[in-house]
Amino acid sequence: MAGYSEEDVGNIISLEHVNVQIADQSMATLFYVVGLGGTRDPYLNVGLTNMWVNVGEQQFHLPTRKPQVIDGYIGLVVPDLTALEKRLALVAEGLKGSKFCYERREDYMLVTCPWGNRYRCHASQPAFGDMTLGMPYVEFLVAPGTMDGILRFYRTVFGAPSTVETDGVGKFGSVKIGRQQSLWFRETERSLAPYDGHHVAIYVANFSGPYGYLQSRGLISEDVRNHQFRFKDIVDPDNGRPVFTLEHEVRSLRHPMYHRSFVNRDAAQSQREYRRGWDAFTPFQR
Ligand SMILES: [Fe+2]
Repeated sequence: MAGYSEEDVGNIISLEHVNVQIADQSMATLFYVVGLGGTRDPYLNVGLTNMWVNVGEQQFHLPTRKPQVIDGYIGLVVPDLTALEKRLALVAEGLKGSKFCYERREDYMLVTCPWGNRYRCHASQPAFGDMTLGMPYVEFLVAPGTMDGILRFYRTVFGAPSTVETDGVGKFGSVKIGRQQSLWFRETERSLAPYDGHHVAIYVANFSGPYGYLQSRGLISEDVRNHQFRFKDIVDPDNGRPVFTLEHEVRSLRHPMYHRSFVNRDAAQSQREYRRGWDAFTPFQR
């Protein structure tokens, strides 16, 4: 076998955004911008009906409607966990009465948004490549006996490699995305929250292959428009059995927003401890 397979990436090039509806833009600003340290996209969706929040090369899309919650965890990398903890303490008063809470775990910070989405905030580490700010993974809890079929789906339909890994909680399947991102699927015995319409957006190098597979099986939920389509039913390719529901916005690299450059501020800047020339943050290690 030829060497250097570690240089390869699969067909899914990036996980670009997670879209969850939120109930209130001022609370979302307190949580995602002031607390987590994200940066509001200054160019698009700057009103009160939606907000896009940049975290490195990824985004949250936060339309104002009935809140949506992912039954699982969104992984984030932040530059400084201690600074994060201080910022979260500062927004606690403003988010009182909501589901907002946070606790320091051994090697990450577990943070819950005002509507119940849970974030694992990690320091930069080799597992996440050279990322110093961003969204390296989203973990979904799935029904017992479905993980293998889910991994088969991404492998067969999307050409995305996967591994089965083990952490402190147990075994999970990891679908590889681009250089340093992944989607995690972890089986759980507890009952799962019904799917509420949240979505993820991915970019793929080969677009027609996944489209053809899903289209021939009646699984496209929104047909191609502006270089993207949507689907939400993940089926086991071995038998067609539905194994998980998650809306994916699937974009080709010809989508006008591919590799859009996101503005990131350095959340460590403050009026008091201002450092001239250091307003912007580069979300990669030097
Ligand atoms: Fe989207």
